[in-house]
Amino acid sequence: MTDTNANRMWGGRFQMSPSEIMEDINVSIEFDKRMAFEDIAGSKAHAAMLAAQGIIGAEDAKAISEGLDRILGEIERGEFEYSRALEDVHMNIESRLKEMIGEPAGRLHTARSRNDQVATDFRLYIRACIDAFDVALRNLQHALATKAAAHAGTIMPGFTHLQPAQPVTFGHHLLAYVEMLARDRGRFADARKRLNECPLGAAALAGTSFPINRHATAETLGFDRPTANSLDSVSDRDFALETLSAATICALHLSRFAEEIVIWSTPQFGFIKLSDRFTTGSSIMPQKRNPDAAELCRAKVGRIAAALQSLAMVMKGLPLAYSKDMQEDKEVTFDALDSFRLVVAAMAGMVEDMEPVPATMHAAAGAGYSTATDLADWLVRELNLPFRQAHHVTGAIVATAERRGVALENLTLDEMQAVENRITKAVFSVLSVENSVKSRSSYGGTAPQNVAKTAADWVARLETEANSG
Ligand code: ARG
Repeated sequence: MTDTNANRMWGGRFQMSPSEIMEDINVSIEFDKRMAFEDIAGSKAHAAMLAAQGIIGAEDAKAISEGLDRILGEIERGEFEYSRALEDVHMNIESRLKEMIGEPAGRLHTARSRNDQVATDFRLYIRACIDAFDVALRNLQHALATKAAAHAGTIMPGFTHLQPAQPVTFGHHLLAYVEMLARDRGRFADARKRLNECPLGAAALAGTSFPINRHATAETLGFDRPTANSLDSVSDRDFALETLSAATICALHLSRFAEEIVIWSTPQFGFIKLSDRFTTGSSIMPQKRNPDAAELCRAKVGRIAAALQSLAMVMKGLPLAYSKDMQEDKEVTFDALDSFRLVVAAMAGMVEDMEPVPATMHAAAGAGYSTATDLADWLVRELNLPFRQAHHVTGAIVATAERRGVALENLTLDEMQAVENRITKAVFSVLSVENSVKSRSSYGGTAPQNVAKTAADWVARLETEANSG
């Protein structure tokens, strides 16, 4: 029985159309259509190169290029009709080109295969994402550094184990994330360098007998060079894995910040106020302001990390070269990169709008004997006690304060001297949170002077970058 629907692209030796289930499991157009622009760019570069090399006629190349431009217009206007029967974006576009320009369309697929085509499209797509992420991450850094500059001297508790540890400044805390994001941007930039080689012309897996010019297509598409091995070109997805791992690490950083935002914005902490723009109310509890955006940023890392896992498992054990398994690379990657883009934008918005409550932060900074280390350091510096002994003496003084229910600076000199009789009233100068942060002027320390300078340097550097990019 001959079925007239047998696939047009390889109908030559197929008599029946695929089963419905085959179509369901095989079809990728619903998700790979988002690479239509990359696919068209790749095809135009390929056709121009084929003509330049005398592999197809100049007229045919012109018809192909114009047809592809018209298709681009249809896609942009939302008029393009995607067909599931045509499986993927590559065949949808080629088939539409055939409808439009007829016979020359059939020459486009000379010296290439969907294997190198999809590898090229996917690289182009991810490269554009990386470039957009770099700008978005820079904007987030800028929002953080600007806020840090404004709050270089705003004192808050620094925590370890989420227990008050030592006073720090809010600006210093924000700058910690600026540093993390700088490394995250570096990871994306590294991934981009390795990604930026063009697989087009590797054809199905072995290269081609046509005299193509892979350097030309690579250059047209903005790649640094063609990939060197045809088998590797069509069979690896490490560029996607690398990008996903950079996104995972960055999203992990941001999930920590999101968690802090959730904690800080509770009435119990009350360190910051979030704006209406990034919070929601409750339909039943009128007093509520919920940090939903922060919570969702905290959560999204789950699907981003899962995409990395998912693609790693798809690739595991695949023999060279191409296998259809690799079509499973796209949905998870797209979803993860979409989520990542949203997370970065939402975090930037929250940071810009976020208002710290300095009085609450300051009060909390002084609680929990947070300047005990300053007292111990004073004992070392002024009385020449070994640090371990100073630690012990300070512990005894903290115990006295605890018994009396007062802060360290509210103890009397007598009470301190009862523990260590050489202590003088000069000790009181180090017990305030202001003096505590001010004294931490070591490189990278939290002293407001350090923070103001580092924040200003960051703002300037990020603005220079933005203006030169
Ligand atoms: N849709 C396919 C993918 O995403 C394109 C490559 C198909 N190649 C093939 N030999 N069937 O991987």
